[in-house]
Amino acid sequence: MLSRIDHVGIAVRDLDQAIEVYERRLGLRASGRERLENEGIEIAMIPIGESRIELITPLNAQSKVEKFLQDRGEAVHHVAFATSDVGASLARAAAAGGQLLDEVARPGAHGTLIGFVHPKSICGVLTEFVEADGQSGS
Ligand code: CO
Repeated sequence: MLSRIDHVGIAVRDLDQAIEVYERRLGLRASGRERLENEGIEIAMIPIGESRIELITPLNAQSKVEKFLQDRGEAVHHVAFATSDVGASLARAAAAGGQLLDEVARPGAHGTLIGFVHPKSICGVLTEFVEADGQSGS
């Protein structure tokens, strides 16, 4: 059901500065930027092979990413797996005792469907399932 790592999410304080770090120090190129107002975050995607780095910065003090940065500082925030069926992946995790943060799939960035599993259920790592249109991982 899970096919590959879709992206690794990294919480950053300053999105412009973080993009510059990835572009200048690693020679990668950021491709898409998107403000997700209802989640209080802005993200930038950096393609790498069949995966991406997702840089995430909070837009306001209420954002969960703001709390994460206060607790942990800039760090890996979550790992996202591509799946053919977010709902089925969530159900599988729950059936095996995992604590879900999303009971059902919900809309994510760029027309995807997403769902999260609590980090304490997956070895301390916030875990995301992503289902892209046509599973192309676009
Ligand atoms: Co993500």
